[in-house]
Formats: sequence, C-alpha cells, structure tokens
Amino acid sequence: MKALILSGGHGTRLRPLTYSQQKQLIPVANKPVLFYAIEDVIEAGVDEIGIVTGPNREQVIETVNSAEWDAEITFIHQGEPKGLAHAILVAEEFLGDEEFVMYLGDNILRDGIVDHARKFRENDPDSLILLTEVDDPSRFGVAELDENGNVVRLVEKPKIPPSNFALVGIYFFKPVIIEACKSIKPSWRNELEITDAIQWLVENGYSVEASIVRGWWKDTGKPEDILEANRLILDDIRERISGEVADSTVIGRVVVEDGARIVNSTIKGPCIIGRNTKIENAYIGPYTAIGNGCVIRDTEIEDSVVLDESVIERAGRIVESLIGRGVRIKKDSIKPSGHRFVIGDNSEVIL
Ligand code: G1P
Repeated sequence: MKALILSGGHGTRLRPLTYSQQKQLIPVANKPVLFYAIEDVIEAGVDEIGIVTGPNREQVIETVNSAEWDAEITFIHQGEPKGLAHAILVAEEFLGDEEFVMYLGDNILRDGIVDHARKFRENDPDSLILLTEVDDPSRFGVAELDENGNVVRLVEKPKIPPSNFALVGIYFFKPVIIEACKSIKPSWRNELEITDAIQWLVENGYSVEASIVRGWWKDTGKPEDILEANRLILDDIRERISGEVADSTVIGRVVVEDGARIVNSTIKGPCIIGRNTKIENAYIGPYTAIGNGCVIRDTEIEDSVVLDESVIERAGRIVESLIGRGVRIKKDSIKPSGHRFVIGDNSEVIL
C-alpha cells in the first residue's frame, strides 16, 4: 500500500504564521504536524509516500528531507489547490494501480492508523473512511450510516448534518477512486471534494466502509487547534533532560533538549524546551512547547507554543499564546511609555 499525504493549501485561518510557513510545518510539541502523518503511515507498513505540495513547496521538501525516514518519499506539486480529489488526480502517476491511504497533513490522531489499515486489508472494501463523533459536524464532511454501520451518504459541510459523524482527514482507497475523482464536478467552493468522490463510489455500487476513531483526533486548522493538539501530545510525553538545569526547580514530565540551559527558573510539566534555548529567571508552566534557539527571561509562560528563535523578556505572564518564529517581545522603560508594536498582517494581540 502507498500513502498520499497532503501538504498544500494556504492556511488562511492560521495567518500570520502561514504567511511565511506552510501550515503543516507548524510544530506541535516541537515537531512539525506533517511528521506525525509520515510516522503514522510508516507505522502502518507503507514504504512509498507521495507528499502533495502547494505554495511553499521548497520549504516542505527541505523540512521533510532534514529527517531520516524508513520509506521512499516522492514530492508531487499540486499547483493551484483545487480540492482534495484534485490532489489525487495530480498524483495519478505516482499512485499507479495500487491501493493507498490518503492522509491530510494537518491532522493528528492519537492512536495512529495501524488498526484502520488492518481493517482495510482484511475487509477489502473499495474505500474505508475514518469517522469520529463531533459536536459541530457542519465544519466537516459528514457521513450518514445505516443501522448496520454501512455508509449510505456523505455530504461536505452540511448546514443540517445527517449525523454527528465527521470525516477524519484519513481515507483508504482502491484505485477506482481515480475514476470517481474524474467523474465529479467542483463544489460551491469550487473544489473537487473528496467527499463527493466517495459519494460517487456509494452511488455506483462500490463498497465504502467506516472505521470509528476512538482516541482523540485534531484537525490543526486554527490557532486554538494547534494549542489543543500541543496539550494532547504533551499529555503523553516522557521526561528526558539532555540540556543543563542549574539552580532551578523541575516538576512533572519535562523534556529539555540538548544544548538548552535553564537557570534560576521553575519548569512545570508537561512541557518541552527546544535545543539551544535559554530560560532564565522564568516560569514555564504546563502545556508549553518552547522551540529551538529561543530566549525566555524574567517572564512567566504557560499553555503556549513558541516557535524557534524567539526572544521574550520581562513580558509579565503569557498564557494560551501561539508565537511565531524570530519574534521579539519585551518590556522596557523608554519614555513615552506604552505598548509599541511592529506586527504582521492578521496578527492578534490581546492585552
Ligand atoms: C477537509 C474535508 C472534510 C474533512 C476535513 C477533516 O475539510 O473536506 O470532509 O472532514 O478535511 O480535517 P477542509 O479542511 O478542506 O475544510
């Protein structure tokens, strides 16, 4: 079985971070979201992965190639993003005549896909879709099931949802899906929807099975989703201190990476401190991920994600924040006093 992992799109709901970074590369617990997808498909036995890229193609290639993978990776350029079914058509040559799992690169699943892959191999349907119950199904593709749990209808972002079962962004397919993607028309949002392609399978007598996701699932499309995914991943981390800790108190499960230095501070897990980051006279609270090469000085920070190379000094108490790369936040005593900002388009500041 091959895998097709989608790593395109403009990530508008994650601006301003996505002006300079592809959304699937934003780190959760200091690891790009995309890496969780790659690990999941490899764990399920896939050894040929196609990654579909969009606007920041070079960045995705460079980041993926900076790590070692136990699989052969091919990059496929989508050009204009015209929907998930369009991504399959762009990858037609790579997919050939094999079955595959399609995994949206901004999704994270706690339990991976091994059990679902086994179900797909054993039951041998034309498609197996992953579903999970959600409170707000209108935001997703939604499946209607009959009393035996068979899929009878799928609809993309319905105003009146037929059930609470949302389509998780992971799908197993036989090659017939390519014919389905060629047969459908663009939706109201002018995209070739994968949901419509699967509905085409149902209508044309192909078998579509559902597999229910029991552990947590996150689609990291918005800042609050990144923070939530970060909490969920940090909940499962194991303590590991590789860096240096001096005159400090470390409580709970904390990861301190190589070259990091913690001085005169309190660190309360679960949290992770990246490589070569300096923490001085600071408090780092639960559910915080501080990236590589950061400096946090005379500041309290909790329940937040800070990306690489950011410097935060005398900033008081920071909570529930998503802070990009190379950001500078500090309090100083220059007159006239007041908040001074140099921040990008679509930033959000809450004082
Ligand atoms: C896409 C799919 C939708 C699915 C969702 C899961 O939505 O179209 O059916 O439920 O991913 O993340 P989009 O992220 O394009 O809004």
